[in-house]
Amino acid sequence: MLRRMVKNLAKRLGYDIIQRSPVDRLGGYEMYHYRKADGTFDYEKYREVQTEGNKRKIENVWVLEENIAFLADYIKRRIPEVKFGLCHGTRRGKEQEYFRKYLGCDVLGTEISDTAEQFPDTIQWDFHEVKPEWIDAVDFIYSNAFDHSYDPRACLNAWMRCVRPGGLCILEHTNSHARANQLDPFGAEVSVMPYLILTWSEGKFSVRELLDAPVKPSNVEYMQYLIIERF
Ligand SMILES: C[S@@+](CC[C@H](N)C(=O)[O-])C[C@H]1O[C@@H](n2cnc3c(N)ncnc32)[C@H](O)[C@@H]1O
Repeated sequence: MLRRMVKNLAKRLGYDIIQRSPVDRLGGYEMYHYRKADGTFDYEKYREVQTEGNKRKIENVWVLEENIAFLADYIKRRIPEVKFGLCHGTRRGKEQEYFRKYLGCDVLGTEISDTAEQFPDTIQWDFHEVKPEWIDAVDFIYSNAFDHSYDPRACLNAWMRCVRPGGLCILEHTNSHARANQLDPFGAEVSVMPYLILTWSEGKFSVRELLDAPVKPSNVEYMQYLIIERF
């Protein structure tokens, strides 16, 4: 009622009030913004949406064992003594299970939902945050959930502070990561990712290689791995 009155008044004065879209289309990428009525970041809403999405899809596993075996082999060739890895946004924890199997080292998964502790080697944790003991201490990070970040620049910088110099961060990217929406707030084509990463890294890390996944689900056009190296 009040909303309509304000809208009509504005119209009579020659203005049109239109609702701001929650998706900003920026230079080559998109961000869905969680905003409260006063325009500030609505973290509670972000958490709630991610947790609801996690529970709705709790039976699903996206990661493919064959791809993790391939990445484990790549990691072994680049890092002779792998001791500790982190996987971010892991739902049922299969990626840490597979990396443990193929690398024989300690691998921990983070998951924002309160379902986390139902799964082995998984902690309930928002991957935008860093545990002090992780800083400069992680040989590799893997994630297929980077598109769930509400602030990809801050998020990747947080992950890369954990990766030790010479260590790697592997981001899985498919064409389904290109569009932003409420559940996946960051969207970008793979072609703009190296540029974004260069902009965000300020010389501390960079994309070293782009690898094709050996296998991909039939519903995606491409599946690639951005290999990011910490200097
Ligand atoms: C696309 S699913 C991928 C699940 C899993 N990696 C797989 O391959 O099956 C993304 C997962 O990331 C979790 N997630 C979203 N935002 C997160 C955050 N900020 N920190 C940790 N986990 C998050 C979601 O709850 C969800 O379970």
